[in-house]
Amino acid sequence: MVSPLLSCLSLLVVALTPVAALWPAPQSYTKGSSVVYLHQNLKVTYNGQFVPYTYGYVPFKLTSKEVVQAGVSRALTGIFNSQFVPWKLHKPGSSWEPDVSKGQTWLQTLQIVQSGEDKPATFKPRAGEVDESYNLTLSAEGAARLDAVSSVGVLRGLETFAQLFYQHSAGTFWYTPYAPVSIRDAPRFPHRGIMIDTARHFFPVPDILRTLDAMAWNKLNRLHVHVTDSQSWPLVLPSMPEVSEKGAYHPSQTYSPADVEHIQRYGAERGVEVYFEIDMPGHIGVVALSHPELIVAYNELPYWWWCAEPPCGAFKLNSTAVDAFLAKLFDDLLPRVAPYAAYFHTGGDELNKNDSMLDDGIRSNKSEVLQPLLQKFVDAQHARVRKAGLAPVVWEEISLEWNITMGKDTVVQAWLGGDSVKKLTGKGFQVIDSDYNYWYLDCGRGQWINWANGAAFQTGFPFNDWCGPTKSWRLVYSHDPTAGLTPEEAKLVLGGEVAVWSETIDASNFDTLVWPRASAAGEVLWSGRTDPATGQNRSQIEAAPRLNEFRERMLARGVRASPVQMTFCTQGRPEECEYAL
Ligand SMILES: *[C@@H]1O[C@H](CO)[C@@H](O)[C@H](O)[C@H]1NC(C)=O
Ligand SMILES: *[C@@H]1O[C@H](CO)[C@@H](O)[C@H](O)[C@H]1NC(C)=O
Ligand SMILES: *[C@@H]1O[C@H](CO)[C@@H](O)[C@H](O)[C@H]1NC(C)=O
Ligand SMILES: *[C@@H]1O[C@H](CO)[C@@H](O)[C@H](O)[C@H]1NC(C)=O
Ligand SMILES: *[C@@H]1O[C@H](CO)[C@@H](O)[C@H](O)[C@H]1NC(C)=O
Ligand SMILES: *[C@@H]1O[C@H](CO)[C@@H](O)[C@H](O)[C@H]1NC(C)=O
Repeated sequence: MVSPLLSCLSLLVVALTPVAALWPAPQSYTKGSSVVYLHQNLKVTYNGQFVPYTYGYVPFKLTSKEVVQAGVSRALTGIFNSQFVPWKLHKPGSSWEPDVSKGQTWLQTLQIVQSGEDKPATFKPRAGEVDESYNLTLSAEGAARLDAVSSVGVLRGLETFAQLFYQHSAGTFWYTPYAPVSIRDAPRFPHRGIMIDTARHFFPVPDILRTLDAMAWNKLNRLHVHVTDSQSWPLVLPSMPEVSEKGAYHPSQTYSPADVEHIQRYGAERGVEVYFEIDMPGHIGVVALSHPELIVAYNELPYWWWCAEPPCGAFKLNSTAVDAFLAKLFDDLLPRVAPYAAYFHTGGDELNKNDSMLDDGIRSNKSEVLQPLLQKFVDAQHARVRKAGLAPVVWEEISLEWNITMGKDTVVQAWLGGDSVKKLTGKGFQVIDSDYNYWYLDCGRGQWINWANGAAFQTGFPFNDWCGPTKSWRLVYSHDPTAGLTPEEAKLVLGGEVAVWSETIDASNFDTLVWPRASAAGEVLWSGRTDPATGQNRSQIEAAPRLNEFRERMLARGVRASPVQMTFCTQGRPEECEYAL
């Protein structure tokens, strides 16, 4: 035990330490200023059983013990292999490193205790079905203990544990300067995600796996894969191979059933649920390449009369052939994804009413004609989703523009900002927020479309995209998905997702555009927009040094995260780099 006086003193020292580590911020965190070195022969136990540290351990089954052993392997690899000597976080010439010649207190044991039993839903939870809380203590004498209710909570705690350590510039020494540490932690929101778009550009499997790793470091727990769109269909359907044969950009740009399972399983091992979206009835033109009879307005021009972005194309809304196709598609896909996911997203954004003008069976763009057809369409698809044991997710227009009635298990993804979240929760829906004004990471980087010389050039100049400005990490961080809601409405907000629409993003620039901006949303979603220490909004000034450090850690662990501030600022000069009035 530390005496109250001593802990006061050590808190004072901490206040002067420029770097406080830990991203996202724990709910409660106290630390001291004793140095403890991490022994490479650290003895780890899990509910009393010895856990060997095997580099790169991959669980052979999705069981608690296997998942925890792999989590221990990743955490220790993160410490021992990333060579993270944090010189970039300290004033040049200051003595910030412990003196290794003065002897060491070694961290010898990490005792992991899981008080609850995992259930099948632990590895594919609906919101609220898994307890991600954990407590972590590390004594100045060299003993660490991690308590959690579920194995996912253990994984969250292990990531925090890894963030306490640095490598010494003298070589093979790893230490924390923060002992004794005491952390109590749990997430503010159960749904903390990233949406990727594999249709505008294809993302190879290894890039998705690396993203899942980085998500786990950030305590993000949902990867939403917008897997198809009008531009391409990379998803292989064994029951209808022609759809990807004709619809993928190239035979190499496809996800086989084994790829899909690998991605989901890799996520589940890290406490990240991977769920898929087939956007419909709009955003599906590519199906015309293999099944032209199902689609209206495919690649119709000028595109802006028929859709938001070329090529256009929507399902016929009153077609038994479309229904038969979707029955076959869902019979093929849903049983394959259901073992690792609790959700399936049926899309529903930006359906242009004009498309049905070209449908011989309808020939109308009137709401009163189309709305009942869309209601029937959504009912039929959601019945299939539920039959597979999944909960449906849709974009907000299905409710707010089309007034479609849906089951209360439906999750609605808001993106248009304004009072969308308030309206949806007011209607009683569970909501995921992806307000494009804050959380669309593709925005503010200019147009992808070309403007012809002359009048078009003048119209388009200076070629901004539709949703600027760029969502800097500070703007991302300023967003609270529950702002302006009543407590009753706020309860229905499951969390949010940053969206990474990929017209001008592929694997070459993904990391730098997503990280650490997704980390900023990750902290809002894990820790909350309000800082419990002050009762006020979390401050950029408090956050930036931690985010600077976390960015360096991500870089050291193999993700090309962008810099947060210039090195002049990160090197222990927070005051020089702030603006206060
Ligand atoms: C963490 O500690 C708090 C307070 O001591 C306790 O209420 C909670 O149950 C603990 N959580 C876990 C996961 O052990
Ligand atoms: C539908 O097409 C007409 C032209 O026929 C166009 O004026 C109108 O803006 C289009 N509607 C939408 C929603 O794009
Ligand atoms: C939809 O199809 C049914 C059966 O073919 C037909 O009776 C009905 O008139 C169609 N509805 C519309 C709005 O075209
Ligand atoms: C419906 O089509 C008519 C005729 O092309 C067009 O003037 C009108 O703008 C369209 N309505 C919508 C909602 O797009
Ligand atoms: C949905 O309801 C709103 C408000 O009642 C109305 O303005 C809108 O036209 C309706 N949309 C459709 C497609 O019926
Ligand atoms: C707190 O943040 C919210 C947005 O999340 C903002 O609207 C509000 O003005 C901020 N409050 C203060 C006191 O800065």
